[in-house]
Amino acid sequence: MVNLMHRRLSAKLSFLAAFSGAVFLCSSASARSEGATDQGAYIAVTSDCVACHTAPGGKPFAGGLALKTPLGTMYSTNITPSTTFGIGDYTEADFSRAVRKGIRKDGNNLYPAMPYTAYSKMTDRDLHDLYVYFMKSVRPVESTPPKTSLPFPMNIRSSMMFWNILFRNDRLFQPDLSRSEEWNRGAYLVQGPAHCGTCHTPRGFLMQEKPSESLGGASLGSWYAPNITSDKISGIGSWSPENIKTYLKSGHIDGLAQAAGGMGEAVEHSFQHFTNDDLQAVATYLASVKPVRDPEDGNTSRFTLGRAISSADRVRGDQPIRSEDNSNMTGAELFMGNCASCHNFKAEGSRDGYYPSLWHNSVTGASNADNLIATILFGVDRHVSGVEAFMPGFGGRKSDAAQLNDEEIAKLTKYVLDTYGRPQVSVSGAEVKLIREGGAKSPLLALTRFGMAGSMTIITLACIYGVFRRIRA
Ligand code: HEC
Ligand code: HEC
Ligand code: HEC
Repeated sequence: MVNLMHRRLSAKLSFLAAFSGAVFLCSSASARSEGATDQGAYIAVTSDCVACHTAPGGKPFAGGLALKTPLGTMYSTNITPSTTFGIGDYTEADFSRAVRKGIRKDGNNLYPAMPYTAYSKMTDRDLHDLYVYFMKSVRPVESTPPKTSLPFPMNIRSSMMFWNILFRNDRLFQPDLSRSEEWNRGAYLVQGPAHCGTCHTPRGFLMQEKPSESLGGASLGSWYAPNITSDKISGIGSWSPENIKTYLKSGHIDGLAQAAGGMGEAVEHSFQHFTNDDLQAVATYLASVKPVRDPEDGNTSRFTLGRAISSADRVRGDQPIRSEDNSNMTGAELFMGNCASCHNFKAEGSRDGYYPSLWHNSVTGASNADNLIATILFGVDRHVSGVEAFMPGFGGRKSDAAQLNDEEIAKLTKYVLDTYGRPQVSVSGAEVKLIREGGAKSPLLALTRFGMAGSMTIITLACIYGVFRRIRA
């Protein structure tokens, strides 16, 4: 049955060039382990190890990417086969324990920022091929990334033991024999290696995924991973399988959605390299995911709101648009001054679709403004098949087009929502500030104020509560 989950991929290696040609260095390896490295390289791509384990501008898999979590900043580690700085001395069993169970070679627990809760579903065969790939084809990098230091009591790695007892599921993926091979392959990818739920499933108080709302939409700090269940209003139940495949492959469907933030990165590093069979499998599985409805959506899907309206007509005729002083500008003026040059004064985008329409767009139609605010602050930068989708940010970083303050962005966001999207959504300067700073902190951080005894009591109570909930569920 396990074999059923595997495809022979040797004919589909064009994407491997992205891995610095490293894969091709193993020419002396035996034919069998060559098969395993090719296979392993594809598994590394489908599980997107590179996205988290590579710092901006850094060497592949050398670690050092800062992951902002609600509990503080965590740094990914060096997972190249360097024996001093990486995982060169990991046996296959050590590797598999780290990836699937979240336990390092030295016995310490990893934080679940490393998505071992999803990788725990991965088959032995995939883990083997992945291990061979890392040991034989990844170039060792002799450097140590910055160390993660979380506030007490989260810095005690063994506290994750309790968390694991509650929330880690050690069951490998169990195929559903009543479903097709394609459906099972899709379920395996979504739940396991491609770890879609890590971003798209909402989390509870202890940061655990809520299985009852699987893929129901979740905040990631600055960005929001929308509901991708099969619900026709709140989810993507209205998308065709072709829509899903095109979006994962390119990150762009004009008149529907574009991919920025973590999704832009996942499309760039991982999904665009999926084989067509695997994309089809993901689409087939997603169509069957239990629908989750958000009452705030009412009866309108986020993809259907808004229409072409001229913002030029809304600008006060007698006042020229000044770029130096934005403070007195209306929303329409901010839109005309900063957005219309690309998205057009009616927000209908460009004819070739490169600049998307801002109505009939997931981001402006959503029932929260997170992704619209994040897009304005941070822009879009996604490379797919050699083409760059680039929108500058307006948050005031070096590469940004302008520096709009929190109040200006709130005013502009509200104007765009009122005119082209979901006018019921409210926006405040405080919300923009929060998204600029990376999102809300976890209420768990309150623990840091209580000292050892208080924290342990709260953790114990929370665990008992968790066990209780789990037994009832
Ligand atoms: C979402 C981000 C993310 C992804 C994706 C990810 N990792 Fe990690 N990984 C981390 C972080 C963060 C740590 C360090 C966690 C800690 O310090 O507790 C880590 C730690 C590890 C470790 C422990 C190394 C050590 O000894 O310290 C291994 C091994 C590892 N990852 C392998 C992988 C492999 C293989 C993949 C792909 C199958 C992968 N990771 C994908 C974030 C990620
Ligand atoms: C690293 C976090 C992350 C992972 C992993 C991830 N997503 Fe996303 N996804 C997002 C974010 C954030 C958005 C919103 C992007 C935007 O609007 O710019 C998104 C958007 C989407 C959308 C468009 C929905 C809409 O309304 O705009 C689909 C479909 C989607 N993701 C499917 C998937 C699937 C399928 C997987 C796994 C194969 C996956 N995602 C994995 C973060 C993630
Ligand atoms: C220099 C051209 C340019 C300007 C100026 C510009 N955009 Fe964009 N915008 C783009 C491009 C390119 C994309 C990405 C298309 C893609 O993802 O394929 C984009 C995407 C978007 C998206 C979809 C993002 C997502 O994650 O789904 C929104 C919403 C958006 N822009 C709003 C705005 C607003 C509001 C302004 C004014 C503050 C603005 N844009 C200014 C070029 C621009």
